[in-house]
Amino acid sequence: MPKAAPKPAAPAPASKSPALPAASVAPDLFATTNRIAGDTLPVVRADLGECTRCKLHTTRNKIVFGDGSATAQLVFVGEGPGADEDAQGLPFVGRAGKLLTQMIEAMGLQRGDVYICNVVKCRPPGNRQPEKDEVEACSPFLFRQLDVLQPKVIVCLGATAAQTLLQTNRGISHFRGEWLDYRGYKMMATYHPAYLLRNPAAKGDVWKDLQKVMAELGLEVKKLKAK
Ligand code: URA
Repeated sequence: MPKAAPKPAAPAPASKSPALPAASVAPDLFATTNRIAGDTLPVVRADLGECTRCKLHTTRNKIVFGDGSATAQLVFVGEGPGADEDAQGLPFVGRAGKLLTQMIEAMGLQRGDVYICNVVKCRPPGNRQPEKDEVEACSPFLFRQLDVLQPKVIVCLGATAAQTLLQTNRGISHFRGEWLDYRGYKMMATYHPAYLLRNPAAKGDVWKDLQKVMAELGLEVKKLKAK
């Protein structure tokens, strides 16, 4: 039996508020200043080590660093490992992961073509959302992973990933489906697959978002049969 997928917070309703950085805005001139010369994924993993930087280490089984192609043009960033991921040490292998795999394949790609990682590398107990201190301790490793990968597009799955990269508390509904800028990288926030498992009606919105990503990556945009 697959274990319960983590439950990211339901998206907050949209309201009018100031715009977030759009991809059309010139990239931050200082975006490259904290890139670490010579960094590679194995170096980032080695620096993470058998991490004890936050309290999540006390309850985790396996660190879930990330998985996929080191030359991926597309990176998916989730929130944090759930029970299946914690047991296997791999991201998105539970129920939400199966849906993510279907989404990737619907885009005409395979999981091995992309890179998948999370904001926090250890499972929050009971699949709760990661807390501020946990995100602060772990996100520098995500930022380094992204700087090593230098993807063409980053897709944030759910509010935690998007809020961490954008350094905002605003709800995902404010900026979902729009092109955003994360330190010079094109970024799109969409709903988390675990949210889609609970709210299948939102799948259409996610597919629209992924079609924008496909167009950006030069992938053939196909019409999917509604399920
Ligand atoms: N949800 C996430 O955010 N990440 C995973 O790896 C699995 C489920």
